[in-house]
Amino acid sequence: MASTSTAAVIETAADILTIRGGKPLVGEVAIRGAKNALPKIMVATLLTAEPCILRNVSDVADVDIIADLIRALGGEVTRRPGELEINNANLQPMERSVLKEFSGKSRIPILTCGPLLARFGVAPIPSLGGCRIGPRPVDFHIRALQELGAELHEEPGASQLNATKLYGTKIHLDYPSVGATEQVILAAVRAEGVTELSNAAVEPEIIDLICVLQKMGAIIMVDTDRVITIVGVPVLHGFQHSTIPDRLEAASWACAAVTTNGRIFVRNARQIDMMTFLNKFRQLGGDFAIREDGIEFWRGRELTSVPLETDVHPGFMTDWQQPFVIALTQAQGVSVVHETVYEERFGYVAALNKMGARIQLYRECLGSRKCRFGQRNYLHSAVIAGPTPLHGERIYIPDLRAGFSYVIAALAAEGVSTLENVSLIGRGYENLYAKLRALGAEIVEV
Ligand code: EPU
Repeated sequence: MASTSTAAVIETAADILTIRGGKPLVGEVAIRGAKNALPKIMVATLLTAEPCILRNVSDVADVDIIADLIRALGGEVTRRPGELEINNANLQPMERSVLKEFSGKSRIPILTCGPLLARFGVAPIPSLGGCRIGPRPVDFHIRALQELGAELHEEPGASQLNATKLYGTKIHLDYPSVGATEQVILAAVRAEGVTELSNAAVEPEIIDLICVLQKMGAIIMVDTDRVITIVGVPVLHGFQHSTIPDRLEAASWACAAVTTNGRIFVRNARQIDMMTFLNKFRQLGGDFAIREDGIEFWRGRELTSVPLETDVHPGFMTDWQQPFVIALTQAQGVSVVHETVYEERFGYVAALNKMGARIQLYRECLGSRKCRFGQRNYLHSAVIAGPTPLHGERIYIPDLRAGFSYVIAALAAEGVSTLENVSLIGRGYENLYAKLRALGAEIVEV
């Protein structure tokens, strides 16, 4: 094993990453298309027989999974650097065997239901993958499709939806779910008549999907009060689109900069998608400079505790929570974090406590308001006492965002940390090792 004088020493072997921390990360990384927008736009291509071109495509696992799924359905997917061309002229209905192959790999296949119903009148329902951060049901999805006129045929392992036609209607979501909002939009664009979706999610990634659909010929209105109105159209066309940059990755690097007391320029990061994050980052003691081509992040003063409550957009994203908590372990004072989107998104803190953090979990809503988890016995509030020096440990990565957060913690810790199951991070962060190297870390093959 080589020893070096650079900021951190990192070794990789199979699915393990070993990091020697304690030094700042300094330099530049570039981000590309949002992991939570790209695969949904790929699903939208199923709605047309004309060729579609996606640009600013990042190299993350969900893009590969959906590309393979489209190929298995008879579509053509051509990959060029940063670009995808998809042609679904010869699309076939989903075979149960194809669905089985992709079930469990990602949550995106559930979104194929609307487009497949529009094209073939039948859509098998996948069992889903994705990060284990709570139960993550799909009841809103199925109920909304039934309200649009689909019939549910339930059979163990072989449930499916059927509809000769979908019809526009009024749909209300019990909670502004991102996936269920996308489900309704992708189904209602080809339905007959008008669909009015209330209590919809309005995340920037959803707006990007709506922009694509508008290019394809759809008519979709987004009102200020979480109401989205979709006027069904009979035909949709091909498109060319450059996907919005990944605001989750941008925030993750910002947290890495402030936690390691370094300085990182995130090329392509956009202020407009990150305003809530930037406000909290500044309250914490982080500083940033917004430039034409990206945002630079660093520590502006001693970090001090802040209260944090996750929420749907335009609130503080649940996916920003984990990397931000690592920064809070280095802040002076007591921070209170209330997670209101997922009931079980604090599983990762036990390992941080092993590294020296002082984080305690509570079942009560410790935020400024009550959330739907308060009465349901979930450990969904955290109290973080800081600053606490972190030291290296051996840690198993349970989910994507926790994974990147452990990388930050390891980079800030004294000594060596060994992270297992590290390939999970590739679901949302492209070229992780190359980027860490560019920021002063060194990767040594074991
Ligand atoms: N929910 C239901 N029933 C449903 C759907 C959702 O009860 O039918 C609940 C969920 O259990 C959860 C809440 O509603 O408590 C929000 O879930 P949502 O549907 O909004 O999440 P999602 O669409 O499954 C996407 C992102 C997540 C991100 C959330 C919230 C993708 C592929 N995933 O998930 O991203 O945390 O929205 O913004 O877009 C990540 O990138 O690491 C990640 C987990």
